[in-house]
Formats: sequence, structure tokens, C-alpha cells
Amino acid sequence: MKFPNGPQTPAVSQMLRWIANPMSFMEACAKTYGEIFTLRLDKNLPPMVVVSNPQAQQQILTTDTKELEAPGDVNQLFEPLLGKHSVITISGAEHQRQRQLLMPPFHGERMRNYSQVITDVTKQVISQYQIGKPFNIRSATQAITLRVIMQAVFGLYEGPRAEKLQNFLSELLEKASSRLNVALLYFPALQRDFGPINFWGKQMRLQQEADELIYEEIRERREQPDSSRTDILSLLMAARDEAGQPMTDEELRDELMTLLVAGHETTATALAWALYWIHKIPSVRQKLLQELDSLGDNPDPSTVFKLPYLNAVCSETLRIYPVAILTFPRVVRTSISLGGYELEPGTVLLGSIYLTHQREDIYPEPKQFKPERFLERQFSAYEFLPFGGGVRRCIGLAFAQLEMKLALAQILSSKALELVNKGEVRPKRRGLVTGLDRPIEMVVTSQRHMKSPILQTTTV
Ligand code: HEM
Repeated sequence: MKFPNGPQTPAVSQMLRWIANPMSFMEACAKTYGEIFTLRLDKNLPPMVVVSNPQAQQQILTTDTKELEAPGDVNQLFEPLLGKHSVITISGAEHQRQRQLLMPPFHGERMRNYSQVITDVTKQVISQYQIGKPFNIRSATQAITLRVIMQAVFGLYEGPRAEKLQNFLSELLEKASSRLNVALLYFPALQRDFGPINFWGKQMRLQQEADELIYEEIRERREQPDSSRTDILSLLMAARDEAGQPMTDEELRDELMTLLVAGHETTATALAWALYWIHKIPSVRQKLLQELDSLGDNPDPSTVFKLPYLNAVCSETLRIYPVAILTFPRVVRTSISLGGYELEPGTVLLGSIYLTHQREDIYPEPKQFKPERFLERQFSAYEFLPFGGGVRRCIGLAFAQLEMKLALAQILSSKALELVNKGEVRPKRRGLVTGLDRPIEMVVTSQRHMKSPILQTTTV
């Protein structure tokens, strides 16, 4: 079989570039080889075909599952943290079953509960920052998204166990985001526990401690069921599959960890980028404030959610530097034709969200932050795909968008902020997603005296 062209350098050097800076590596490959190319990261793994053409994205995300699958075993990089039963690491009918059990808490009526949580938590976090004292914006957005997801998953959750779990999760994810950890994930032979001084061993122990707290919580809920609770854990414990079976404790643990990890790390980065762009480009901030100020007192969350310019700013934030630069891998099961190549069973396909979002033909001047492009035209689901698509499309898509919009509205309405250093910030690998290449500091310059912008809760 002839694979699309790609770098001919040894696998180990491709892997090192991939770990160090996947964005610039993919951009360099696209420049040389075009919109479909092959990477060889490991001599023991099949080559990976990367695509950025929207038609090809559509083909790999929507093709009949007999030809193309999105199996969980190719996501084994996530297994050490999320477990074997996570929706991300399982496949086929099991994946479908688990998705069906997980989806209801992220739909319609349920979203109403989260609006209030997001607004309250954002208020609490942002009120700590005082005029004139610089603070790290990613720490602030991470504090918001971690508390929000903890409350969404566990309900009103206070006390020593909640605090401990929150601290473990922060530490765990901070460690997981290092390049060393990513290298250990890509080179599993190095994943050994050499005792307490060892990086991987420490990571595993932190995880065991977090797991124990989660299992304690599940046990307690089973012993004292409370049917009035509407948090995600309660909904998952009450959920039954088509055969009438509930989720096991291990499944619950893995799904909770998946939601806690996927649900806060990604949105924290997206919010940090949004605040950076809004304050980097004065005209963007001005237009956004105009839109928010025009709402009057106490608009409901659904009005905020539908604001056109706020929506454009959030979309452009997720376009220019998508937090997830790739869709999960898809694997060819029966030969297919893609981008002029005949690809045989076993070929691994990756949709490069980053490269599609950087295409000059779809997004003129792609390196410029221009929310207006989302007001001027509509992009198809395969031109703009920050949340992927098809059978593995992000479960938290609506939740993440709601959180970005309500948190931004709350922050901008209550504080005037400035960037301490207006220099450029670029994307950088952060664990298995992207982050910022340097800390962004901001400072509160004055209070803004809009009345509490979001008080009521209605369905979004
Ligand atoms: C800005 C925030 C977020 C971004 C950019 C994002 C992006 C993505 C992407 C690209 C995928 C893979 C889709 C594919 O391969 O087709 C994904 C999957 C997933 N996301 Fe998100 N996500 C975000 C927030 C969230 C939140 C808030 C949650 C949950 C509370 C969440 C839970 C998940 C889960 C469980 C999956 C796996 C779905 C499956 O394998 O079936 N994500 N996300």
C-alpha cells in the first residue's frame, strides 16, 4: 500500500518533535506535503495519516462504522489516568452503551442547574482579586472550571473529602501536563514505579489516593441513597442500560475521572485564551462590553448564551488555537479511498483540528484573531470542529460553551482587567491537549458596577 507522503526522518525523531511541539510539526508537514500526510512516530505502531481537508474530516468522522471505527484501544494514552472503562478508552457496543448513560446530564433541562453554579463559582473566584495586584489568569480559570465540574459531578460538595479530592486532582493534572509525563505515556516501557522518588510512581500514588476518595463517595451514596439529588454522579448511579443494568463501581470511577479531567482542563485553557485575546485587542473588548452592557439588569443565562458577539469571540478563541488539536484516532476496517489514496485496514487516521482551523482558504489571515468572521459567514461542522464529530463528538460541548460564555460575561461585567505583559502568547503542548507557552498575568484596574449580570436561571 502507498501511504501519503510524509517526513522520512527516523521514527524516534518524529516522536520527539511530536512530543515537543505537535502544532509546529504538523504545520511544517502541511507546508511540505499538503493536506494529507503520514507520520511514523513509532516503528512498532502503524503509520498515522493526518488530514486537514474538510471533506476528508467529514469522511473520517461520519463514515459507516463497518469501514472506519473509532476504537477506544487506540486511546490507550489516556488509560493510566482515566481507566479501562472510560468512555474514551472503550469501543463499539460498550462505548455506545456508556455514551447513552453519560449523555442525559449534558442535555436540555439539566443544563439549567449548571448556569447558577457557573455564575456563583465565577463570582467567588474573581472576587478574590484586588485592584492593582497581578494574578495568573490560568490559575483563576482553572479554579473556576475545577470547582464548577466538581459541583456539577458531585452536587453541593463541601467538607474534607471534597477539598482533598480537589487538591489531588489539581496536583495530578499539573503533573500530567508536563512533557516528561507525555514522554512516559508515549514510551510505556518507562512507566515503572521505582518507589517514592520516582515521577511515574508518585503520579500513580496520587491517583490511588484520588481513587479511594471517589470510591468512598460512591459507597456512601449507595448506603444512603437520596432520590432528590440531581448531580451527575446521582444520575449515573440511577441510570440503567437497555438490559436494565446499572454502571459498576469501576465504570462509575472511570467515568467520573473522565468528566473531571476532560471537563475542566480543556475549558480552563479556552477561558484563559479568551481573556487573553479580549484584553490583547482593545476593539474586541470594547464591542463585547457594549453587547453585555446593552442587556440591562439581570439577564437570564439563555440571553447571554445567545449573544452574537460573545459567541463569535468564543468560537474564534476555539478556532485559532484549539484546545484539542486532533480528533481521537479513527482506524480503517475495510479499505477506503481518502484524498486520492487507497488506505488499507489497520491504517490510523487523525483529523487535525488545528490544521483545518489554520487553512487560509477557509479562514483568511488565519493567524489573526477576528471574531467577525463568525458573524460574516457560517462554517460547516467540518470546517469548524473544536469538539470533533461523529460517534466520539465531545459529550461536554454544550456544557463547555455555556461555561465559557457565562464565566466571561460575569468576569467582564464585574471587573475591568488589563494584561500585565501585552507580548504575544503562543500555544504549547500541555499534557495531551494544548496550553499557553508562558503564564499570562492580569490585573484588576477597577470594579465595574454592573448589577449582578446573571441572576435567574432558565434553560439554555
Ligand atoms: C473547550 C472545552 C472542550 C473542548 C475543546 C473539547 C474537545 C473535545 C474533542 C476534540 C473530543 C474528541 C472528539 C472526536 O474525536 O470526535 C472530545 C471528546 C470528549 N469530551 Fe470534550 N472538550 C471540551 C470540554 C469537555 C467537557 C466540559 C466535558 C465534560 C464535562 C468533555 C467531555 C468529553 C468526553 C467524555 C469525550 C469523549 C467522547 C467519546 O469518546 O465518546 N469535554 N472533547
